[in-house]
Amino acid sequence: MQRVPHWHNSRKLVRLDVKGRIGASVLSVDERNHAAAMRLVLGIESSCDETAVAIVGDGQQVLAEVIASQADDFATWGGVVPELAARGHVASLPGLIDQVLSQAGVQLESLAGLAVGAWPGLIGSLLTGVTAAKVIAQRRGLPLAAVDHIQAHLAAVHLDQPNVTYPLVGLVASGGHSNYYLGDAPGRFVMIGGTIDDAAGEAFDKAAATLGLEYPGGPIMDRRAALGNPRALTLPRSFIHDDTLRLSFAGIKTALLYQIKGPLGRDPMTLDENGINDACAAFQAGVVDCLVSKLLLAAKIHQVRAVAVGGGVACNSELRARLTTATAAAGLQLYLPKPRHCADNAAMIAALGHFQIERGELAGPDLVPLPTGNAGPRRKSLR
Ligand code: KG4
Ligand code: ZN
Repeated sequence: MQRVPHWHNSRKLVRLDVKGRIGASVLSVDERNHAAAMRLVLGIESSCDETAVAIVGDGQQVLAEVIASQADDFATWGGVVPELAARGHVASLPGLIDQVLSQAGVQLESLAGLAVGAWPGLIGSLLTGVTAAKVIAQRRGLPLAAVDHIQAHLAAVHLDQPNVTYPLVGLVASGGHSNYYLGDAPGRFVMIGGTIDDAAGEAFDKAAATLGLEYPGGPIMDRRAALGNPRALTLPRSFIHDDTLRLSFAGIKTALLYQIKGPLGRDPMTLDENGINDACAAFQAGVVDCLVSKLLLAAKIHQVRAVAVGGGVACNSELRARLTTATAAAGLQLYLPKPRHCADNAAMIAALGHFQIERGELAGPDLVPLPTGNAGPRRKSLR
C-alpha cells in the first residue's frame, strides 16, 4: 500500500486548504526581491518521524517551510517504528524539496548552502536526510553544514527574534532530551545539567498512556490540563529543592501510575473525563514546576541575563505561560520560539546552518549521521 504523506504545517508564504494541506505559493514580487538580497540556506530535518524542509534567509527569516508528519500513522503503534519512519522520509523528501524551492521562488543555484540535521536521531531516518543533502551539495557545488539537532532547537530563537544576545542559558525539552545548556553563540552550547532518566516529553507520553490517551500524549495532556484541577492529585517534584541542575521525571511518572492503577495494579481508580483532565493538570503542573525552577537556577548559577527554550515540550501552553511570568519576575530576557519552531522543524536546521557556513564549519562527502551525540564541542572528525 502506498503511504500518503500527511501535511500538517507551514508558514504564511504557504497557503493551506481546509484540511491543512499545502497549496500554491503566495510570495509577492517584493518578497522575491527581498529574498534575492539574503543569504539563503535550505535546511533538511529527518531525525525522527517528521520530514521537514525549509529555506531561511540570513539565519532568521523563514521564506518557506513544509513538514510531512507521520504522527497519525504511528498513533496506532503507540510510538515511532524506526524502519517505517525512514521509508516515509524517502517517500516525502524529494517532493518537499521541490515544494519549498517553488514556494520561495528560488533555484538551487542561488542558495548560499545546505544544512542537514546529522545527529542525534534514528539512524535510518537521519541517513535519508543526510544522503539527500550530500548529493545536492556535491552535484551543485554548495557548502553543506552538518547540524546538531539539539543545538538547532536553541538556534530556533533566531527565527523569531532578530537580536539575540549571548551568553544565554538554554533548555531543550523534547521527546528524547530535557537538558540545560550554556552558550555564547549559535551552535556553541555545552550541557550544564538535565534529566537523569526520562525526558519531559517522554514522561508526558508515558503518563498519557497510563491515562489511556493516544500517542503523542503531550499535546493531548496540554489540552485536557486546561480543563482540570492541578491540585486534585499530589505528585512529586524530584530535586526541586536542591541546588543542582538535575531533573528526574521517573518519580512523577511512577507516582501517577500507582495513583491511577493502584499499588501492584490492585485497587485502580475509576477515572471519568474530569478525573483524566485533573490528572493531566496535576502531572503537567509538576513537570512545568521542575523545568522552570531549574532554568531560573541555571541562569543564576551561570550569571546570564537571558534564557532560551526549545523542543516539542516548549509548545506546552502552561510551560509557555509560566516561563513568561517567571522570567519577567526574575528580570531575565526570554527567547521562546513560536510553537511550530519549538517542535521538530527544518527552519531551525537552516538557521543554525547559516551560522556554521558563515564560520566555515563545513561537512564533506564523508559526513556520516550519528544516532547519539549531544550538544557539546564540535566533532572535528565530522567536519
Ligand atoms: O522536539 P520534538 O518535536 O521531537 C523530539 O526531538 O523529541 O518533541 C516531541 C515531544 C513529544 O514527547 C511530545 O509529546 C512533546 O514533545 N510535546 C508536548 C507538547 N507538544 C509536543 N508536550 C507537552 N505539551 C505539549 N503541548
Ligand atoms: Zn527535536
